[in-house]
Amino acid sequence: MPHYRQVGEVPPKRHTQFRAPDGGLYAEELMGTDGFSSASSLLYHRRPPTALVGAEPVTAPDVGLAPNEPLLPRHLRTASLPAGGDLVTGRRALLANDDVTLSVARPTQPSGLYRNAAGDEIVYLRTGAARLESSFGVLDCRAGDYVVVPTGTTHRWIPLRGDDSGDGSDNGSADSGRGADGGQVAALVIAARGHVGPPERYLSATGQFLEHSPYCERDLHAPAAPLLAEADEGGADGVEVLVRQRTGLTRYRYAHHPFDVIGWDGCLYPYRFSIHEFEPVTGRVHQPPPVHQTFAGPGFVVCSFVPRKLDYHPRAVPTPYNHANVDSDEVLYYCAGDFTSRKGAGIGAGSVSLHPAGFVHGPQPGSVEASLGAESTDELAVMIDTFAPLLLAEGARACDDPDYAWTWART
Ligand SMILES: [Fe+2]
Repeated sequence: MPHYRQVGEVPPKRHTQFRAPDGGLYAEELMGTDGFSSASSLLYHRRPPTALVGAEPVTAPDVGLAPNEPLLPRHLRTASLPAGGDLVTGRRALLANDDVTLSVARPTQPSGLYRNAAGDEIVYLRTGAARLESSFGVLDCRAGDYVVVPTGTTHRWIPLRGDDSGDGSDNGSADSGRGADGGQVAALVIAARGHVGPPERYLSATGQFLEHSPYCERDLHAPAAPLLAEADEGGADGVEVLVRQRTGLTRYRYAHHPFDVIGWDGCLYPYRFSIHEFEPVTGRVHQPPPVHQTFAGPGFVVCSFVPRKLDYHPRAVPTPYNHANVDSDEVLYYCAGDFTSRKGAGIGAGSVSLHPAGFVHGPQPGSVEASLGAESTDELAVMIDTFAPLLLAEGARACDDPDYAWTWART
């Protein structure tokens, strides 16, 4: 996220005396990436953000990672997993490798304060609305939003329901998330080991989105004033922050609330981008998945399949050809619309499919013929392609459809 932003009060020159009305100095914090060599922001706290008063190890849940053996395509019916918990500790891990962990959550409670020190997180809201509160301020998010939370951002997630979710008019979303799901938040969490952002080919040498990019700066939304500027002190027990480090979890307790920021500026902050703002690239014949790419991460990419005109060659076959992704595992999170290429496979909103390297996949029987002459599709889906094999976690085993692998052989 290379675009400069300033919210609240900051001094005219960095690293100079910046005083509160009572004459005391504000505490400057630099949050930066890649060893002072990449994006950073400067935050100004009322009180030092360093005042640790306690730290305890937290036992991370065993997600039971196991190889996908025998090697099979999978259909995970994530909508069958129960709702509950919060968007941080209530996640059910589905698939993971050393680069990325994919989880789902249907939170019903606000989370505690949380900071992922191992990598960036992309939280995609399939349904519902939620508020991201962080040291950078408030970001109201709704169905269709990808919410990018940079490594090290102290934040919490608050599910919103009904009138709490705002008017829904600011991001062009076609789905306010208050439909058949009654406002229930359903989210996919893409937790990277490292940093995510737009593909480099979309950007100029100085980081501006180029004309061929399917989205640009105007489509990205970040926290704005007013800041939370929490003045609460932690009391005897301190303010708890759950920290995910590369080796596990730690619960910190701080003397001062980390949301006591009165201003910040820089190029590193949480932001949201609605999938409904992604402008699809179409062609006379079938376009390959890279035209749908939305984000790049270390060892994986994220693509958006959105409603669009279909291929317009007079003899076009709009349904994808069979394909062998020999260097990647392919995950699709089906969000809305009619998934015609998966006809007869039981795929629905909330389904996750895994088509691993080594398995040649394509449309289900009858899908190709049924697609001929079609001029548009209303499908909405998020795809994650990983370059290393994905392991199955307990959440995948809990909602695995045992019949899916055999659906291509049905006539
Ligand atoms: Fe595919």
